[in-house]
Amino acid sequence: MSHASTPRPLRSRAGSALTGRIRVPGDKSVSHRSLMFGALAVGRTTVTGLLEGEDVLNTAGAMRAAGARIHKDENGTYHIDGVGLGSLLEPEDVIDFGNAGTGVRLTMGIFGTHPIAATFVGDASLSRRPMGRVLDPLRQMGTQVVARAGDRLPLSIRGADMPLPITYRVPMPSAQVKSAVLLAGLNTPGETVVIEPIATRDHTEKMLAGFGADISVTIDEQGARIIRLKGRPELKAQAIDVPGDPSSAAFPIVAALITPGSDVTVENVLLNEHRTGLITTLIEMGGDITIENERMAGGERVGDIRVRASKLKGVTVPANRAPSMIDEYPVLAVAAAFAEGDTHMPGLEELRVKESDRLAAVARGLEANGIPCKEGEAELTVTGGASGIGGGIVTTHLDHRIAMSFLVLGLASGKAVTVDDGAVIATSFPTFTSLFAGLGAEISELEDARA
Ligand code: S3P
Repeated sequence: MSHASTPRPLRSRAGSALTGRIRVPGDKSVSHRSLMFGALAVGRTTVTGLLEGEDVLNTAGAMRAAGARIHKDENGTYHIDGVGLGSLLEPEDVIDFGNAGTGVRLTMGIFGTHPIAATFVGDASLSRRPMGRVLDPLRQMGTQVVARAGDRLPLSIRGADMPLPITYRVPMPSAQVKSAVLLAGLNTPGETVVIEPIATRDHTEKMLAGFGADISVTIDEQGARIIRLKGRPELKAQAIDVPGDPSSAAFPIVAALITPGSDVTVENVLLNEHRTGLITTLIEMGGDITIENERMAGGERVGDIRVRASKLKGVTVPANRAPSMIDEYPVLAVAAAFAEGDTHMPGLEELRVKESDRLAAVARGLEANGIPCKEGEAELTVTGGASGIGGGIVTTHLDHRIAMSFLVLGLASGKAVTVDDGAVIATSFPTFTSLFAGLGAEISELEDARA
């Protein structure tokens, strides 16, 4: 919870064009899962390119607490000696997940069908987020939950001794909920079935198959994904090379589009089809974006993304695209501020329950910087092209993506933009300021946001 205690105001201002080739840290979703599945496998899993953000390191701590041995060698490769499915140890202490929703929700799934007790805590942001969406199906599988009103952290669970397989239709488009049920299904005899009416990122399905689980995906007549998992497989250790995180690449990509004269290439980015909605949208807006050196690595499409500064126009983003760019709306809103006309973003109900109420946080941040926008219950419209923008102080609400998005805004607006706390950026993108400095961006630390 270190970032919660010491706010670190940051300010960005317009300077030179951004140029260069960079690599962003490893994908957060794949990094969490590498540690978790490595902990459940038999043998030694190796992971290169792991994201060393606070969120992922908290997952490493949780897996260690359950008996996995995890160490990093002198080359930066992580080695995970798995405990084996069914053999997790009961953690001795409370598990602190900091800011990490994916970490805590997927771990609840894993622990929920092991005969162990565990208590989870998190920072102020995570403690506000709904856990019932994961606890409801876990209760059906036999997990006992001791939670204060509202199924929020801190809470304790006792995993089922005799877990029951379920068929679960995920009520909201959430890869975390889908994954928690599948991971609970791993140590459950019989077949666990998850029905996903709207497709979300499929890293759990793909990676579990790679670790040797018996998992299949079919599509029904309504277009829903039916995921069937046979319980109690023997998971075998794997060698994983984590590609760059498209959700982190989003920041230099948008920064390059809106900063005149820029030409930036982000190398080795994961291009999984459930993660590329932002790229599709930015190209529709007129962004000069090309994918180079496209290849397959570890069963995933990866490539280098070259971006040149572009004149953008407003678009309507189809609501059904939201799951493939759910973490990218804050930075898309920043791109929209520089586009000609309105950019309309419907289908955003899930943004209300992210690290902050992201819909409100984005709207307040835009307003603070003189950018016209309209916030609906589940939609946002941003009017681009206003003059004299910037100069505001943005409240980040312990949300890394709010902090990074508004720092990107400041790189191309007339007046500097301040975020009240950039410390939380370390949860997902610890090299953010140094990478941007390498591209020529001006982002500085402040003693006081109002100075
Ligand atoms: C994630 C799923 C998404 C996303 C989060 C990572 C994952 O959350 O916002 O950053 O790794 O499964 P939801 O499942 O709540 O949409």
